[in-house]
Amino acid sequence: MILVTGGAGFIGANFILDWLAASQEPVLNLDKLTYAGNLETLASLAGDARHTFVQGDIGDSALLGRLLTQHQPRAVINFAAESHVDRSIHGPAEFIQTNIVGSFNLLEAVRSYWNGLEGDAKSAFRFLHVSTDEVYGSLGPGEAAFSETHRYEPNSPYSASKAASDHLVRAWHHTYGLPVITTNCSNNYGPFHFPEKLIPLMIVNALAGKPLPVYGDGMQVRDWLYVKDHCSAIREVLARGRQGQTYNVGGWNEKPNIEIVQTVCALLNELRPKADGSRYEAQISYVKDRPGHDRRYAIDARKLEKELGWKPAETFESGIRKTVEWYLANPDWVAHVQSGAYRDWVQTQYAAQEAA
Ligand code: NAD
Ligand code: TYD
Repeated sequence: MILVTGGAGFIGANFILDWLAASQEPVLNLDKLTYAGNLETLASLAGDARHTFVQGDIGDSALLGRLLTQHQPRAVINFAAESHVDRSIHGPAEFIQTNIVGSFNLLEAVRSYWNGLEGDAKSAFRFLHVSTDEVYGSLGPGEAAFSETHRYEPNSPYSASKAASDHLVRAWHHTYGLPVITTNCSNNYGPFHFPEKLIPLMIVNALAGKPLPVYGDGMQVRDWLYVKDHCSAIREVLARGRQGQTYNVGGWNEKPNIEIVQTVCALLNELRPKADGSRYEAQISYVKDRPGHDRRYAIDARKLEKELGWKPAETFESGIRKTVEWYLANPDWVAHVQSGAYRDWVQTQYAAQEAA
């Protein structure tokens, strides 16, 4: 079996759903269920003996020790993290705690477990750490996309905390021989994405008749990958990636934010036209920029493509259409995640942001 941390979040839950659709190998899912964790995403697995959920913290060494000894996973895949840049700006403490201290405790528990393994179980074991392209910092307009050897230049509390965890993972391999692999992926989008991130927020706000808040001039560039393509890359890396290596994951889909918002609006105009005949673009509202806002991310995924033959299945056009269709078909999931805690966040983040 495999141990997945953060499996009630956006990418972790998509990963578990895809894993169990393709394999009989059980998954132990350890998740703290912060505001971002949502078991409703895994509702289709209710009663499925291949999925075991444990509510807990990756920083809880005693719990980790017990779970590892009891379940004897052949791999640990670490998705658990605080993941939202804007939240890291408002309150970095949780990011330090989970992304750095939590990852350290997880590494120590896994090291102790792995030291006790023998033979094939020991040599086949893998610790796969899921990270982000944001650790590489921001690119200028003509600069080459991030390769695995690009220097780390994190600019936000979020990316700095992820960079720190990547360094710990690297050091645990170099010093203790722990068989680790790290993936650094570009921005994901797709089903079950919490509506505080750009794409789901725009869909949800558009449908609710609310403003579509675009930070600054909207010309910041992100490199977008459909979440299921990230999941397939992780499966490949787990199966055939070389230990001690890092692999960049991306789909060569660089787009400025305003183009993303316009694409979402165009799809909604087509799929859910407004009764009054007006267009969703009319709801776009430019707001104050994010402090320290990285201008451009772009991933060079050639190592993964060459070494493991991985390719994304979706283009941006097919993936964004599927995503908008998913949100239109799943209003209950959206309504349930828009809890009191979500409303408080939207209030904190956007109420104070004057129109630019
Ligand atoms: P998310 O915020 O949707 O989910 C994170 C999950 O981790 C939640 O279920 C939360 O409850 C859980 N969690 C948080 N703190 C925990 C703790 N201390 N112990 C156990 N569980 C805890 O995040 P996501 O978008 O699914 O991202 C997953 C991972 O992928 C993160 O490590 C993130 O840095 C990385 N990543 C995300 C993106 C992206 O675009 N979303 C891109 C590249 C890499
Ligand atoms: P986000 O989804 O928060 O991902 P990240 O900051 O990790 O890349 O934001 C994606 C881009 O969209 C980023 O450049 C910030 C911008 N953005 C907005 O313009 N408006 C918004 O309301 C949000 C949430 C993000």
